Amino acid sequence: MDLLKNKILEVGVVISKDVIKLDSILNHQVDPQLTLEMGKVFATRFREAAVDKVMTIESSGIPIAFATALELGVPLVFARRKKTLTTDDDAWSERVPSFTKGIVTDIMVSKAYLREGERVLIIDDFIANGDAARGLIRVIRRAGAEIAAVGIAVEKTFQSGGRSIREEGIHVESLVKIASMENGNIIFE
Ligand code: G4P
Ligand code: NA
Ligand code: NA
Repeated sequence: MDLLKNKILEVGVVISKDVIKLDSILNHQVDPQLTLEMGKVFATRFREAAVDKVMTIESSGIPIAFATALELGVPLVFARRKKTLTTDDDAWSERVPSFTKGIVTDIMVSKAYLREGERVLIIDDFIANGDAARGLIRVIRRAGAEIAAVGIAVEKTFQSGGRSIREEGIHVESLVKIASMENGNIIFE
């Protein structure tokens, strides 16, 4: 998606060879017009995937997931992050480590909003090692629901998340692939 590539070149701040800050469009401030365009592209790519609902994890995935759900005409459910794992019979919980933040959080989805047999499209802003996406995948499977596909705005292909999820046979689409950020230079695939 050239619009997103150009925005990344314009506003992205490479803070290490592994991490790029996109706070002015995705992770702090949100660019509504760009976000709506991302939703349209995802909706086009997943129109045939028979999606019943879109899922993401709070917080930065929510605007893009919202835009995608709007275009597809389905609900959006976002997994909540909990500081402590409270066992709750009415919710699915999974532990998710974070490469970027170096912490572990627990994600929670109410059983009321994730039903057996539903086809779920996972949307997120970034994929690094794929821990967040795999956490959602575990939740969806435990609920007896199906993974329709995974859509990622920015895939860093020098990290293994996208590849490892594709190797499981899951359809993963990303809007932009970053192959390298060595020496502060963003190289798209
Ligand atoms: P993984 O899930 O793919 O393994 O990645 P990781 O654990 O690193 O993801 C943890 C958080 O860091 C996620 O946000 C993810 O979107 C974000 N992230 C990963 N790589 C980058 C990067 O290069 N730049 C930026 N800006 N973020 C990155 P989160 O914990 O869900 O937080 P939130 O922003 O959604 O609140
Ligand atoms: Na994030
Ligand atoms: Na995210």
